[in-house]
Amino acid sequence: MSTAGSVLIGGGTGFIGSALRNVLKSKGYGVTVISRMPGPSRISWNELNHKGLPKDTTAVVNLAGQNVMDFTRRWTAGFKQNVYNSRVNTTATLAKLISEAVEKPSVFVTISGVGAYKPDPQKEYTEESPCGEFDFFSKLCKDWEKAAELNCDAKQKCRVVTIRSGVVLGREGGMIKQLYLPFYLGLGGPIGTGNQYMPWIHIDDLTSLIVYAIENPKVEGVLNGVAPVPCTNKEFSLAFGKALHRPAFIPIPSIVFDILLNKERAIMVTEGQKVIPKNTLSSGFKYKYQNIEVACKSLVA
Ligand SMILES: NC(=O)c1ccc[n+]([C@@H]2O[C@H](COP(=O)([O-])OP(=O)(O)OC[C@H]3O[C@@H](n4cnc5c(N)ncnc54)[C@H](OP(=O)(O)O)[C@@H]3O)[C@@H](O)[C@H]2O)c1
Repeated sequence: MSTAGSVLIGGGTGFIGSALRNVLKSKGYGVTVISRMPGPSRISWNELNHKGLPKDTTAVVNLAGQNVMDFTRRWTAGFKQNVYNSRVNTTATLAKLISEAVEKPSVFVTISGVGAYKPDPQKEYTEESPCGEFDFFSKLCKDWEKAAELNCDAKQKCRVVTIRSGVVLGREGGMIKQLYLPFYLGLGGPIGTGNQYMPWIHIDDLTSLIVYAIENPKVEGVLNGVAPVPCTNKEFSLAFGKALHRPAFIPIPSIVFDILLNKERAIMVTEGQKVIPKNTLSSGFKYKYQNIEVACKSLVA
């Protein structure tokens, strides 16, 4: 076993998972990834189900999930089921295996989304704000978070930390990978009025927050994984355009996204919510990227 510990990561091949793997390895952790594709230091979900958690696992992180914003996939009932199952079922599998394990990891870190909070132009949400079931994404987040609950007695303690993440900004994947070219060509701009909030977090801060959750025995429960200075979609567009030295004024009407993505899915970009990382800050976590201008500069450097 590595001296720092051994971390098992569901969906560790993805955008966030790859960045997390690099950080963990640089800190001396051993990393095993659960993936649908075979490879070195990987196990499959099937193998995991049969054999249980790998021996000496000290922390488990789940980042698995079918990419919701895959523009090539139509928003069909089948695709929605895939989006749901790839998050809720994988999380439930890991929770079950942790609950059954004789030697438990000390922490289970799962991700969820700010879609748990109802889009609103004014309301401020913290981790304590009530989350309803008002659309597909809020129901998904609720079930996803519930799936992480462990079924074991308090003496066999394994902390559960759920990070409700905003849009993750990094060069290697997610939204920035999709927007880089249009913005670089000067074709970027706000979506709709651009006044909708866009909760965001820099990839370096999100991976640091996951590691912080693994290493800090006092951290438990829900943490909003968003930068402390909220921004709107328009403010993001201007900051990203400025960082690239390109204009980014031309708005893209919301209806374009409603048609391209389906209205139910397009909500993720056409509407937004103001999310404050109250518990994250009070836990003592220190952000590297607090405001969108500094974050955007780092993305084009
Ligand atoms: N990126 C963001 O802005 C953002 C914001 C909030 C929340 N999140 C959440 O964070 C998680 C990771 O995001 P990401 O951006 O790193 O995503 P990603 O790059 O698409 O990676 C997700 C990983 O999940 C696995 N996966 C995909 N479809 C699956 C399926 N049907 N069944 C089981 N596993 C599947 C894949 O691993 P294999 O192919 O190796 O199996 C993939 O590497 C997701 O759950 C996402 O919803 C992301």
